[in-house]
Parts: sequence; structure tokens; C-alpha cells
Amino acid sequence: MTFVVGDNCIKCKHTDCVEVCPVDCFYEGSNFLVIHPEECIDCALCEPECPANAIFPEDEIPQDQQEFITLNALLAETWPNITEKKESLPDAEAWDGVTDKLKYLER
Ligand code: SF4
Ligand code: F3S
Repeated sequence: MTFVVGDNCIKCKHTDCVEVCPVDCFYEGSNFLVIHPEECIDCALCEPECPANAIFPEDEIPQDQQEFITLNALLAETWPNITEKKESLPDAEAWDGVTDKLKYLER
């Protein structure tokens, strides 16, 4: 099993999650973060840290976000590793809770 970053991270990217991950398995794009499914040890520490509630165990990700499972795996292979918190994106508050943000994903 793995944890998966879902839709609500896009355009928020608070990065609180990376600080608690014991195996540093977060990877960073310009407006989204992903978890490497083969590196995640399923510890669940990151899930409650996300202010946008964007992290789910793989088997609990909402039906309409299933594609994020393969998206996390794919992007984790190409994006750089991130291990330290940085500023949230400038409009994070305004974008929190907006649905269907996949169209805004910058790859
Ligand atoms: Fe890292 Fe644990 Fe979250 Fe997996 S569940 S991404 S190992 S903090
Ligand atoms: Fe994204 Fe939440 Fe981490 S918004 S960067 S999954 S703390």
C-alpha cells in the first residue's frame, strides 16, 4: 500500500507533509507534490499534516480521484525530491476546496 496526494494539493502545495516523512518520498512539481509509491512505507504520518486534506491511503482515495494513484507513481519518477517545507503557494487559501484542479496541473 501507499499514500497518495490528491486533487486538493494542486495550486495549494503547503508542503507540511514533507517534514514528517521518515523516508523522504515526496517529489515536487511547480504546483503539486506526489508520493513515490515504492518508497512510501505506509506510516500515515503525513495525512493529518496536510492543511488541505489532500493525502489519502491508496484504498481510501475518493472515486473521482482514482487517476491520482497512477499520476503519483508517474510523476515521482521524473520530479525532484523535496524534504524541507517551503512557503505555500501564494493563492493557496483561495484554491483550497476548489474541485477538479487536475486541469491546472503543471508538469
Ligand atoms: Fe511518507 Fe509515511 Fe506519508 Fe508514506 S505515509 S508518504 S512514508 S509520511
Ligand atoms: Fe500538498 Fe498538502 Fe503536502 S497541500 S504539499 S499534500 S501538505
